[in-house]
Amino acid sequence: MAFIEVKNLTHIYGQGTEQEFCALRDVNFQIEKGEFVAILGANGSGKSTLARHLNGLLLPTEGSCRINGLDTLIPKEVWEIRRQVGMVFQNPDNQLIAGVVEDDVAFGPENLGMEPEKMRQQVDAALKAVGMTDFRLFAPHLLSGGQKQRVAIAGALAMNTNCLILDEATAMLDPQGRREVMTLVEKLHQERGMTLVIITHFMDEAAKADRVLVMEKGRLVQSGIPKEIFADAPRMHQLGLAVPLAVELAWHLRKDGMNLPDDIINDDDLIAALEDGYVH
Ligand SMILES: Nc1ncnc2c1ncn2[C@@H]1O[C@H](COP(=O)(O)OP(=O)(O)O)[C@@H](O)[C@H]1O
Ligand SMILES: [Mg+2]
Repeated sequence: MAFIEVKNLTHIYGQGTEQEFCALRDVNFQIEKGEFVAILGANGSGKSTLARHLNGLLLPTEGSCRINGLDTLIPKEVWEIRRQVGMVFQNPDNQLIAGVVEDDVAFGPENLGMEPEKMRQQVDAALKAVGMTDFRLFAPHLLSGGQKQRVAIAGALAMNTNCLILDEATAMLDPQGRREVMTLVEKLHQERGMTLVIITHFMDEAAKADRVLVMEKGRLVQSGIPKEIFADAPRMHQLGLAVPLAVELAWHLRKDGMNLPDDIINDDDLIAALEDGYVH
């Protein structure tokens, strides 16, 4: 059984009203436990709608969405799904609700009715894991965007979440904040085997994933390893998407007759290929 199983998922907003809008159409995919998947797609392609299905914030109009064998359509399973799947959204200012960092991280465990002693341990461990122990008594508004997102991630860790979904969670951050958040989630993925789903417009982030899914107008139109997906730069452009800068540059250099390997995906690959051909 895959960790995430999305079958024939269709989502219609405002069904039966004049504003009825079909945001997801017959979407099918699976994500294995411990996999790192990036979801790409132009604005309005249905990425956020899809993300909200993955922890039961939205329910299927048709089809189904199962997380670790739990079905979002079964009301009593939704709480366990929300515990297992942590969501981090775009705007860091909308995520933290308590007046002090550690209270914010404790919010989830408290709602689960965790014993106070156990809760304290969970909160301390979660703050440590995201490198925010020193800020535990800070008011969230004093933190940088990257720090706020890390606290949001700690909130999920404190509930022993085993899957993180980041819906453009780095979009509003400065480069340093982006790096902090990506380094953290990659570490959680690598060291704890957490299942990681990131929705992003940053192609260098997507290039690090095990697999890339591409959405277009509510449909899932591509699924493959980053090298395959980015190899077809014209198709990506047609879908309203960029490719990583290194891929774009390699594509132009090949077009100009330079003999470069066809699996260049990031700066390091490109540098290595150029050094092989031109220095040695
Ligand atoms: N609450 C809503 N009510 C009606 N339409 C919505 C709602 N949320 C999103 N949509 C529409 O559904 C489509 C997909 O939106 P969304 O999932 O947010 O896309 P993305 O995250 O890829 O930008 C868009 O056309 C959007 O306008
Ligand atoms: Mg979105």
